[in-house]
Amino acid sequence: MNILVTGGAGFIGSNFIIYMLGKYKDVSITNLDALTYAGNLNNLESIKNNPNYSFVKGDICDAELVDRIFSENNIQQIVHFAAESHVDRSIVEPDIFVKSNILGTQVLLDIAKKHWKIEPDDKYSKDYKADVKFVHVSTDEVYGSLGPEGLFTEEMNLSPNSPYSASKASSDLLVYAYYKTFGLPVNITRCSNNYGPYQFPEKLIPLMINNALKGKSLPVYGDGMQVRDWLYVEDHCSAIDTVRLKGVDGEVYNIGGNNEKANIEIVKLIINQLGKSEDLITYVKDRPGHDRRYAIDNTKITTTLGWSPAHSFDEGMARTINWYLDNMDWVNEIVSGDYQKYYNEMYG
Ligand code: NAD
Ligand code: DAU
Repeated sequence: MNILVTGGAGFIGSNFIIYMLGKYKDVSITNLDALTYAGNLNNLESIKNNPNYSFVKGDICDAELVDRIFSENNIQQIVHFAAESHVDRSIVEPDIFVKSNILGTQVLLDIAKKHWKIEPDDKYSKDYKADVKFVHVSTDEVYGSLGPEGLFTEEMNLSPNSPYSASKASSDLLVYAYYKTFGLPVNITRCSNNYGPYQFPEKLIPLMINNALKGKSLPVYGDGMQVRDWLYVEDHCSAIDTVRLKGVDGEVYNIGGNNEKANIEIVKLIINQLGKSEDLITYVKDRPGHDRRYAIDNTKITTTLGWSPAHSFDEGMARTINWYLDNMDWVNEIVSGDYQKYYNEMYG
């Protein structure tokens, strides 16, 4: 099985590649990543010499390049992570979110359709290639914000509130349109907030760990009572692998582990685990358009595909905090921007 992973040098993509190469010997992975500020080849140090792995530096918007990758590697499946992923950045710089998240996805869909020779009636033909699949990695943020009660289900209307989530919702609609119009075999996954190794330290958990370790203030947006539903990244990887293998074409699968926490709880847990003082907490201006609560109903993926998370929140957080304590060089290189110099020297 030849798989194109896009955005494989980012947080979830790199965890996914490590997970897949550890699990399968007969899977070959090509990683296409533009190495934006969020892409870091250090994440893939442990597998960079694996014969079933290759890296291409490039943009998913570059149709010629994507076309060539398909031809040269006989790509049979795509697991599409590449995206601008940070809500705060989307408020300052929305145009890049539209380019990468929407236009980039459309390029991948077109090239997959071309190479897999998908025609509108193909899914009814006996020659239909059952092994090809486009897995679009989306987010629960496309559903918008919940009140104190209720959960996100796959049937809910999309109601995104940030330029980031609007760009992801747009890409979801394009992916679904290629299924309905052309019969492209797609799945869309919508996961809740991930945490774990290799998460860029602009996101809540690694940012708080890094700042607490350095005795810097911990910026809590608004009242800190916004709720997120946390999943250990390896569980997200196993869920995507399950969807890749067993997902019914055209279906959306929510992914989550039933771990709702208010932001302030997370911040206090980190302070506690690191033996720091709550005096570090600083309440700052709220994020504009800040979604109040996310919570996933995972019934569909657990009951129809048999997936369930393997890590509890307490265990996942302990692993994560230990990983950051053991890998402060990784964090410090990012914070100092050194890793980008290294890329520029290696890849120009
Ligand atoms: P990330 O920002 O850590 O990584 C994104 C990767 O994509 C980086 O390596 C970057 O270099 C690459 N990239 C960006 N634009 C590109 C382009 N135009 N061409 C090629 N590569 C490009 O993101 P992440 O947190 O790992 O998220 C990965 C995916 O999962 C995203 O699509 C995101 O929407 C989705 N998601 C994330 C979470 C989460 O909690 N982090 C939860 C649910 C879904
Ligand atoms: O729900 C899935 C989404 O989770 C993904 O689609 C996104 O790619 C990912 O970035 C994440 O989005 P959030 O906006 O929920 O994550 P973030 O880590 O930026 O923030 C989590 C919560 O913590 C949110 O309510 C904002 C708050 N926050 C964040 C930061 C960085 C703070 O209070 N202070 C901070 O400094």
